[in-house]
Amino acid sequence: MPVERDALDQVVARLRSAKSVTVLTGAGVSAASGVPTFRGPEGLWRSFKPEDLATPQAFRRDPELVWEWYDWRRQRVAACLPNRAHEVLAAWAARGPGLTVITQNVDGLHERAGLVDVIRLHGSLWELSCWSHCRQSPESWRDESVPLVQIPPACPWCHGLARPAVVWFGEALDPGQVARADAAARCDVFMVVGTSSVVYPAAGFLDLARAHGAFTVEINPDETPVTSRVDVALRAPAETILDTLVTGLHPS
Ligand code: OAD
Repeated sequence: MPVERDALDQVVARLRSAKSVTVLTGAGVSAASGVPTFRGPEGLWRSFKPEDLATPQAFRRDPELVWEWYDWRRQRVAACLPNRAHEVLAAWAARGPGLTVITQNVDGLHERAGLVDVIRLHGSLWELSCWSHCRQSPESWRDESVPLVQIPPACPWCHGLARPAVVWFGEALDPGQVARADAAARCDVFMVVGTSSVVYPAAGFLDLARAHGAFTVEINPDETPVTSRVDVALRAPAETILDTLVTGLHPS
């Protein structure tokens, strides 16, 4: 279904008058790069069970299995490039203050496109932390080796187990990132892009933005539980529609 011109014009007009715009992204933003989403027909949760691979219990039971899965995901993402959606957001943010990106993605493609200060709700595939929170180690550290040199990797400080610095099911989000996202949701225009909006607390930022009076937009080729709650739903892929919106906003 082609996106209606009126809807696009309305969004561009709102973006033009907005002082603050916040974009919440999900796996759909990286789909065009070849990174698998979680819940689509080819989604990761169709072939893998989250309780076997993405919980602290799973890691305690079989750290090697969990790390093999993360190593496979790191290898897949390392072979992907940022797409137009990542590039457009990075270029938009570089034009000056006003745009904040909150992401649920752990792939690091926003950062690889040049976006700085991304609010990362679910951590990063490229960071590790000490499983036993040893006193010597920092909260997390970067490790971009692909494939990993050793599975499971060790904490360089206490030589115990290291874990992926991502948020697993049943774990709390980093309070610092949540506080930043909370502040960013109090904006003039809030857009949810490429997310199924079923995972909380991430999905709840839309309602916070609405309560604050933000104009809300969803970009997703499919309907989601929040489609009926946004002011405008643009049913199109992020990599095409973000480009169209930003060209309308900043014509060269
Ligand atoms: P999902 O896989 O649940 O949803 C991806 C969404 O992207 C779907 O609604 C698709 O319709 C949409 N989509 C697909 N291709 C698109 C495109 N080219 N442009 C725009 N949208 C597109 O992924 P998330 O919503 O990100 O959490 O999942 C949320 C969280 O659930 C993830 O961060 C992960 C997962 O369990 C943790 O690991 C903690």
